[in-house]
Amino acid sequence: MSHLEFPLTETTRSQSDVDRAAVLAKPGFGEHFTDFMTHAQWTADDGWTSGEVVPFGPLTLSPAAAVFHYAQEIFEGLKAFRHADGSVWTFRPEKNAERMQRSARRLALPELPTEDFLASLKAQVSADEPWVPAAGGEDSLYIRPFMFASEAFLGVRAAQQVDYYVITSPAGAYFPRGVQPLVVWVSDNYARAGAGGTGDAKCGGNYASSLLGKKEAAEHGADEVLFLDSETHTTIDELSGMNVMAITNDGRILTPELTGSILEGVTRDSILQLARDRGLEPAEQKMSMDWVTDRITSGEIVEMFACGTAAVINPIGEFRSPKGSWTVGDGGSGEITLSLREELTGIQTGTVEDRHGWLHRLA
Ligand code: COI
Repeated sequence: MSHLEFPLTETTRSQSDVDRAAVLAKPGFGEHFTDFMTHAQWTADDGWTSGEVVPFGPLTLSPAAAVFHYAQEIFEGLKAFRHADGSVWTFRPEKNAERMQRSARRLALPELPTEDFLASLKAQVSADEPWVPAAGGEDSLYIRPFMFASEAFLGVRAAQQVDYYVITSPAGAYFPRGVQPLVVWVSDNYARAGAGGTGDAKCGGNYASSLLGKKEAAEHGADEVLFLDSETHTTIDELSGMNVMAITNDGRILTPELTGSILEGVTRDSILQLARDRGLEPAEQKMSMDWVTDRITSGEIVEMFACGTAAVINPIGEFRSPKGSWTVGDGGSGEITLSLREELTGIQTGTVEDRHGWLHRLA
């Protein structure tokens, strides 16, 4: 069992306090990066070695690195939040560690032990602690661990050399319009994942395959795309990078069951627990889009939302497809959706009791 350490060898920051303050005043999502990055390497001969925290900057890779050719790559997404006392916490990171191990198995990459994953987050966020936004709002430091095949080899087989990095990026709202009801396009031309494929792994390829659907959505004036199952093109899977949920007028919260082509979201799991706690009945089930739109029309489904680490919980106001359009509820932000959002972000930012023990201190 490896026990990686991640020493910080160079402590000079590349960005000034003034520049950092300007970024933190308006972080956006995924646009700005911090001063450091955390790294470890794995080789088939030696396993995981050489943990380090180094200045954020370009990587030097062979153009023959397998990741460029065969997309042997996985990633994770978490957030660090500052609490009122200045301490910094993340949310259920063991779940991300375990999911990264599952993704690694599916992509024939080496598994990073949970302990090393947690140590890498702590090293990265400690080094970049000044980049964690102030307490009192919802802004966070988004943490992006990722792992890829760096071996220079063009034969198709699992790479013998792999690099793991953690980078961080201050984050405000994921959607450019902020937390506003989304218009969602239902893709009938493209699927995100198929049976036996990599849909439940967090690998770059799943997101690459969502991009054309997302482009098509934008052409129809939509913010997001909803993918249907690849076999029958009827049942709902997930959005381009988020799970989807519905609330009914008789107190149920519905979400597609985990079929192997849907990502097992940490936010998805947490919302199902918070819903259960407040007496909503969670139902993970197969749902055809026709079944959903019939219930939107009849008024049985009263609210819908997208959920994920980056997006948190974002209301869905309308679906569009080649068959028509459907307004969910009154098209606004549903009351239960916003209240779940408030509870979840409250737990994360330390203003609501963490009754499930989900928080993990990083700094
Ligand atoms: C996340 O929610 O953390 C993701 O990885 C989704 C990505 C589209 C930002």
